[in-house]
Amino acid sequence: MKKTNSVCLPVRKDGNFAYHIYLEDSFANLTERMKELDPFQRRICIVTDSNVLPLYGEEVVRLLKDCCREISIYAIPAGEEHKNLNEIQRIYEHLILHKLDRQDILVALGGGVTGDMTGFAAATYLRGIRFVQIPTTLLAQVDSSIGGKTGVDFDQFKNMVGAFHQPSLVYMNIGSLSTLSEEQFSCGMGEVLKHGLIRNADYYEWVIDHMSEIEERDRDVLFHMVEESCRIKRSVVEQDPTEKGDRALLNFGHTIGHAIEKMKDFRLLHGQCVALGCIAAAHISWKRGLLSEEEFYEIRDMNVGFGLPISFDHLKSEDVVEATKHDKKMASGQIKFVLLKGIGKAYIDTTVTDAEMLEAVNSLNANLW
Ligand code: GLY
Repeated sequence: MKKTNSVCLPVRKDGNFAYHIYLEDSFANLTERMKELDPFQRRICIVTDSNVLPLYGEEVVRLLKDCCREISIYAIPAGEEHKNLNEIQRIYEHLILHKLDRQDILVALGGGVTGDMTGFAAATYLRGIRFVQIPTTLLAQVDSSIGGKTGVDFDQFKNMVGAFHQPSLVYMNIGSLSTLSEEQFSCGMGEVLKHGLIRNADYYEWVIDHMSEIEERDRDVLFHMVEESCRIKRSVVEQDPTEKGDRALLNFGHTIGHAIEKMKDFRLLHGQCVALGCIAAAHISWKRGLLSEEEFYEIRDMNVGFGLPISFDHLKSEDVVEATKHDKKMASGQIKFVLLKGIGKAYIDTTVTDAEMLEAVNSLNANLW
């Protein structure tokens, strides 16, 4: 495969240029890319988490400190359990202490939780300031850093409080994927498979064909994979930035995935739960005759191939179905379920019944195996 080490994807909003996504091999071009935002007279606050700080904090501060007036760093404790309004309050306190004003810039350095929280703080502090995404996990690179969804969990409800607030720049260093744990890497693979399943059958086949290179984290293969996923994500969010229509296709696997995540009290990672939810959605599609049995089992088995679960335990299937009723993805009380009518062809269906969901959830419930 051809070696590439810098790709720029411009993102448009309402037909106009909105921001650049840069895919790079290292952080070396960060200062140069950041200059696009004219940060020289501005204060920058880097928001990161306690895991990412020791890995990349020092390098990113060194690269940004010469292109701004003042720089500070704020680390949130790592983990989904800290994605809440209490931590947002602490970020506001830090920003006030460091006198950030409306022209200043937040930088999210880390995974999806850091990006969502930093984006939400940026959307609400002084009624909105700019922010930059520097995603360091696969999940954040291929999904959550693009498209401006920001927010926090509230009372066990996932992403219940939030805002659409577009980043001013997204800079991803593909090299940062080499330090990810197997578990975190596989969570990102759930999103990668999802992109292929909802939008692009050829890409889905390519991912399966390159399973061993992906597992070995071959840099060029990862570069190509992240680029293709970013292209899919970009095309969806450009067409529907605020999820009035087709952006909801990105929620494939999320209705049942979020329900399992909630019932497990966030002890299973988001990517693992969504991967289970994708199997359930594929199961319903198969039972409706929209996918073949072979396609369903291939989708399920790809989870095994990429280190993702195919079952959960210690939950009652009925409770999981009940928990889907509290999901945000409802339209006038009906669940907006994303199904597949073939690999690469997702659509929104509001007619999925509790019985269909229960059968699909039962197929994941290891206590019934
Ligand atoms: N992660 C789904 C979306 O950005 O819409």
